[in-house]
Amino acid sequence: MSRTLSTALVTGASAGLGRELVRQLVRDRGMTVYATARRLDRLDELMAEMPEGKVKVLDGDISDPGFRARLWGWAEAESGGIDLLVNNAGVGHYADFGEQDPAEVRRIVEVNVMAVFDLTQRAIQAMRGRGRGEIVEVSSVLGTFGIPYSAAYVASKHAVDGLVKSVRHELRGSGVRLWALRPGRFASEFRTSSLGGRGSDHAKPGEPAEAIAQGLIRGLGGRRAFVTPTLQAALTVAVPHWLPGPFEAFMAWLGPKRFMREVGGAISSKSSAA
Ligand SMILES: NC(=O)c1ccc[n+]([C@@H]2O[C@H](COP(=O)([O-])OP(=O)(O)OC[C@H]3O[C@@H](n4cnc5c(N)ncnc54)[C@H](OP(=O)(O)O)[C@@H]3O)[C@@H](O)[C@H]2O)c1
Repeated sequence: MSRTLSTALVTGASAGLGRELVRQLVRDRGMTVYATARRLDRLDELMAEMPEGKVKVLDGDISDPGFRARLWGWAEAESGGIDLLVNNAGVGHYADFGEQDPAEVRRIVEVNVMAVFDLTQRAIQAMRGRGRGEIVEVSSVLGTFGIPYSAAYVASKHAVDGLVKSVRHELRGSGVRLWALRPGRFASEFRTSSLGGRGSDHAKPGEPAEAIAQGLIRGLGGRRAFVTPTLQAALTVAVPHWLPGPFEAFMAWLGPKRFMREVGGAISSKSSAA
């Protein structure tokens, strides 16, 4: 299936994984990519880096349903039909869930869940009509287990995984494939752009975004519903799945304080006393 992919819509293309993915889809796959994010200057830089006409950009806030409708309409009309949708835009946060501002929770759900569901529906309608296409949701290893102080984010990735588990059955025989990528931690702007306070600068940066983009591209045209792009991510998912008891004991041994050090000053001392 991957050989027939020539046009892609990639969200969250101004930084991290999305930006790297646009580069690799153009350079390694010769695809024309429709790229979106809020920061137009970043998108313009990316467009200028690539061969002329291979990257087209539209800036906007993906949490806005009106923008999503415009985005999908633009990408379909300009391309003559999008073959590959990558729902990559995402936002993290560091917060004690009990204390978290409901507006922040809503924002995470809008970007990480509602935007993904909405664009996935639009893509299914268009791609099913054409009898072909591929939709990739960028989930996380945190779609499979939880950690403290990122509850709404973890829940949002579980929601995306749930969507894939169900809808893939509805798409059987349609020529449209829906799957999710489950990366572990990788180097990007994710921790510094997280809502509710930046993460610690001492946190390990993780794997290079290039390796995660390569893993996503390797997954194109395959049959699996969930793809872990690196060995490290595969092990991170496998341990809680196959060894739930020892994993639970390990989390209890680590305790929430270990995670607090990681998220820097983003969690209030009131929460830490609990
Ligand atoms: N980094 C990790 O360790 C890690 C691990 C597992 C999974 N993931 C997932 O991987 C995906 C990409 O993350 P990343 O690490 O590459 O993050 P990043 O470097 O922070 O990039 C996030 C991208 O999403 C866009 N975005 C955020 N909010 C948006 C909004 N309201 N409207 C439009 N675009 C928006 C940002 O663009 P603008 O700010 O310009 O709008 C940016 O291009 C996310 O879904 C994340 O959950 C990340």
